[in-house]
Amino acid sequence: ARVDKGGFKHFMAKEIAEQPTVLSGALSAYLDKDGISLPDPGLDFDKVERLVMVACGTAFYACLTAKYWFEQLAGIPVEVDIASEFRYREPPITKGTVALFVSQSGETADTLAALRYCAEKADKIVSVVNVPTSSIARESDLALPIHAGVEIGVASTKAFTCQLNVLLMLALEAAKSRGRMDSAEQAEVLETLRAMPGIFNVALQRGDAIRKAARQIAEARDVLFLGRGLMYPLALEGALKLKEISYIHAEAYASGELKHGPIALIDKTVPVVVMAPRDSLFDKTVSNMQEVMARGGKVCLITDAAGADAAGADVWQTIILPDVPEVLSPLLYALPAQLLAYHAADAKGTDVDQPRNLAKSVTVE
Ligand code: G6P
Repeated sequence: ARVDKGGFKHFMAKEIAEQPTVLSGALSAYLDKDGISLPDPGLDFDKVERLVMVACGTAFYACLTAKYWFEQLAGIPVEVDIASEFRYREPPITKGTVALFVSQSGETADTLAALRYCAEKADKIVSVVNVPTSSIARESDLALPIHAGVEIGVASTKAFTCQLNVLLMLALEAAKSRGRMDSAEQAEVLETLRAMPGIFNVALQRGDAIRKAARQIAEARDVLFLGRGLMYPLALEGALKLKEISYIHAEAYASGELKHGPIALIDKTVPVVVMAPRDSLFDKTVSNMQEVMARGGKVCLITDAAGADAAGADVWQTIILPDVPEVLSPLLYALPAQLLAYHAADAKGTDVDQPRNLAKSVTVE
């Protein structure tokens, strides 16, 4: 079917806006009345000793997010690597290892090569893809489609949230089969997950605050993104999005690393985007924020209502999102990361859907 912009100025804007609908479809593909339903034969999670996750670009940040989920919820040791590094390093793949590849296109050359390297060594090859007929899907023992629909914008948006969705389902199933979460606890998380499309809508309706912050950020030459825990990969994704489409230099750091280098860059010309819902790590992030503000840095805080209250009045721009349980925050915080980049690029008038030098799918080395 022909895909058009549906009244939006860019495919990227449309793909960001359709995430409530797309996520809702993606959710129902993996949920039935009894809970999570994965294709059969699925994975024997209690036998998994180690999970190795490999991808490129935005898909790599989905893997980095999932590492926190698999470790914290399911207690599975996880390694995450960039495909172009992994494939040449000849990493040992021991018995009990499941290798998981995440790719929107399913055709990224480095990711496919990494998969082939693992093919005879890992217990199982699993992939999380948007194109079920792709090479990566075909060469996997188990291919899990993300159901994001066709993504045209070169900068990945809805595919990222749908990758997170499938990875979270896997982590929740793993947690249950390893006895770290019972059915009732899983059902509780799933209930909020089911409500996520509605929460996405609420967040998207608050787009004005994001557009306002983005217009200011568009003036900057360098931008820093900070986050802790589950928000660290989101900070990386926010910085990547901004670089890709607005051509503004952006770096992301784990908040705790601020003092080990990037704090030297802080002055009033470098906006610092802090992604921090009021979670278990919030107080630590606030003290990092204060370090930034004490040096004249301008903080754009992306948080929830409780976080905004606690952060104080010195924050330069605040973007307030609905409250969600900590474990689900990466899905929601993907939206402002995407919208900040989109509106900054739009303000600069760059070619949002076809940024210079980038390709949607990199099938050569
Ligand atoms: C290219 C795209 C990115 C994408 C990456 C990985 O660099 O521009 O948006 O994240 O490839 O692509 P994949 O199809 O493997 O997810």
